[in-house]
Amino acid sequence: DDLDGFIAGLPKAELHLHIEGSLEPELMFALASRNGVEIPFKSVEEVRAAYEFSNLQDFLDIYYAGANVLRTEEDFRDLAVAYFDRAAADGVTHAEIFFDPQTHTHRGIPFGVAANGLLAGMAEAEAKHGLTSKLILCFLRHLDEDDAFRTLTQAQPWIDRIAGVGLDSSEVGHPPSKFQRVFDAAGAMGLKRVAHAGEEGPPEYVREALDLLHIDRLDHGNRSLEDPQLVTRLARGGMTLTVCPLSNVKLCNVASIDVHPIDRMLKLGLRATVNSDDPAYFGGYIGDNYRAVARGRGLGRDAIVTLARNSFLGSFLADDAVAAHL
Ligand code: HPA
Ligand code: ZN
Repeated sequence: DDLDGFIAGLPKAELHLHIEGSLEPELMFALASRNGVEIPFKSVEEVRAAYEFSNLQDFLDIYYAGANVLRTEEDFRDLAVAYFDRAAADGVTHAEIFFDPQTHTHRGIPFGVAANGLLAGMAEAEAKHGLTSKLILCFLRHLDEDDAFRTLTQAQPWIDRIAGVGLDSSEVGHPPSKFQRVFDAAGAMGLKRVAHAGEEGPPEYVREALDLLHIDRLDHGNRSLEDPQLVTRLARGGMTLTVCPLSNVKLCNVASIDVHPIDRMLKLGLRATVNSDDPAYFGGYIGDNYRAVARGRGLGRDAIVTLARNSFLGSFLADDAVAAHL
């Protein structure tokens, strides 16, 4: 049967997408040339060949280097529009996208250049495709608490256009507890809170994200499966997990797509969703991720529908908007 057509036609929300991770090598070259920025690659093929990672840090080093070509509001808008065009083609009707302001402010690009450019791209996607979106500001966890607080202060003029805060970058050695106070401050401003936890870090980091950061959604969360009591807690609490299958395989956190635990998560009662994380680096957009787990794990249409439905239930859309998407 036409499983690919079924997946493409199913409305879905993307809840775990780093916009800087959607920078395709072709656009990287175009922006490098437009901005007169040197990049350490001779061709698009050479860039793609460099995308072999054995862990999260391997990837992060090359991902932060790639972001160096992003200089102007127009660059950020073009990046976002390119992502939304591909997402719309995959049947995405709503996306909640991450950006890493510190990756840009640390190289002299003001917060507003990234924010204004991305917001312009989001408006364009809604006009062009009817694709709605929300913006989530991620703190880089390898940097310190003061730097995160400075970033939250810089965000103030845009705060009504930012849905929430997140936590990403190098997980092990940078537990959620390091950012308890800044997440408290964000919560007091009415922002939603999400955090990457249990991607490479232990189940204890997931517990910290719940107890100390008061997260509304858990990014990745795979290693929760090592702790049955934690699984029960996440399932009973209706916590959404934003799982990224191709990312898990590319970063060697899962041996192959054929042993990915996505269906086990569903059977355990977890509200799991399928997302692309950094599609330009991990070999596929959200449709590729759905197709990969559908084939690799032999998912039936019922499981695929559950995953898509979970993506809207786990979104930060109001209940009436969720109902309109389902
Ligand atoms: N994990 C942590 N940080 C990240 C990721 C990820 O998968 N992608 C971009 N920043
Ligand atoms: Zn991520």
